[in-house]
Amino acid sequence: MSKLALFGGEKAKKTPFGTGKRFGDEELQQLKEALEQNTLFYWSGSKTKELCKKFADMYNVKYCVTTSSGTAAIHVALGALGVTEGDEVITTPVTDMGTVIGILYQNAIPVFADLDPHTYNMDPKSLEEKITDKTKAIIVVHLAGNPADMDSIMEIARKHGIKVIEDCAQSYLSYYKGRLAGTIGDIGCFSLNDFKHISAGDGGICIMNDEDLYYKAFRFADKNYDRFSKDPAALRRIEFLAPNYRITELQSAVALAQLDKLEWICNRRNAYGDKLSEAIKGLPGISIPKIEEGNKSSYWFYMFRIDENEAGVSRDEFSKALAAEGVPNQPGYIPTCIYEYDLFLNKNAYNGTKAPFDSNYYGKEINYFKGMCPTAEEILNTAIRLTVNEFYTEQDLEEVIEAIRKVSSYYSGK
Ligand SMILES: Cc1ncc(COP(=O)(O)O)c(C=O)c1O
Repeated sequence: MSKLALFGGEKAKKTPFGTGKRFGDEELQQLKEALEQNTLFYWSGSKTKELCKKFADMYNVKYCVTTSSGTAAIHVALGALGVTEGDEVITTPVTDMGTVIGILYQNAIPVFADLDPHTYNMDPKSLEEKITDKTKAIIVVHLAGNPADMDSIMEIARKHGIKVIEDCAQSYLSYYKGRLAGTIGDIGCFSLNDFKHISAGDGGICIMNDEDLYYKAFRFADKNYDRFSKDPAALRRIEFLAPNYRITELQSAVALAQLDKLEWICNRRNAYGDKLSEAIKGLPGISIPKIEEGNKSSYWFYMFRIDENEAGVSRDEFSKALAAEGVPNQPGYIPTCIYEYDLFLNKNAYNGTKAPFDSNYYGKEINYFKGMCPTAEEILNTAIRLTVNEFYTEQDLEEVIEAIRKVSSYYSGK
């Protein structure tokens, strides 16, 4: 058995991880063209229109609306669906704050469903348990590029007449039984922030097939201005509140160039993640992220779980040993479930009042507490998260596998 690097042995990861340039001449050319238009306003220039057309074609959907961020895209989706005070929106608690921010800004209440222990995505059974007569929408997060159980979720949603938003911020070109994640629910939402598969610095995209939803979403992202109307007065015939979440032509220009690279990026990540799973599955006490039969993940990150008893080591110790081998990793993902953040525990969304949690529309006390979603908490306490990058090489993959096997074998004695 080779000596762990943690105890002075040789590192399993011997070479630096592969890197590469995400932006090049293609982005520069697009930016140049955008600037030469002499306007950077999305409605006046051509780049945002081109981006919408290209993304809608790629996803084979009718409509696309751009926004200033992924958080904004989800807020726009909720606004388009008419989510408001008195409504409940069910989502999952292991995600980015961006999933829930729009719910609260609409003065609605986030309700958290538990996760499947192996896919880390929404457990349809838990979803069904959380539905009430106030449930207006579901936000399904396809975590880390892995598609959630959409057939079950859609069946439940349709049965109860509830709309479905797919949060695809981490899941570009992920396939659920041959269908693209983001095209199965009512609206799919994407992020163009700098940490995602593709980046425009910041930005977001909503896709949908319903024409009415499209116009509502379009207006909601732009102060409820009706830019399509031939009647100039319609622009400021504002019926209700909507934010300014406009993208700029500069972001759209970069995103256009990035879209050409998206398939390559997702395929590289898919191959890396699937090969890693194949190589480490069955190691004592290690459970790999489950990609359901027929699905394809674009692995925004790679997260596996440690069963301390079988692995012979705690999750934290495994994580440290792996880091010492030269494989950067994080124990868990976010520090706790979202509902354990101070905002929820103290019901302090608007910094000083209890709104929307104390709204009379609910007729019950709303509370968030540790233990709400036990499986989600268990996942965060037992997971190790590895970075995935499209520039990683075969050698990176082999050395990472070697490092995991080495640490596993040392502690499990197998
Ligand atoms: C699952 C998920 N939803 C929403 C968001 C919000 O996206 P943005 O940072 O572009 O606002 C993120 C970003 O981290 C995310 O990972």
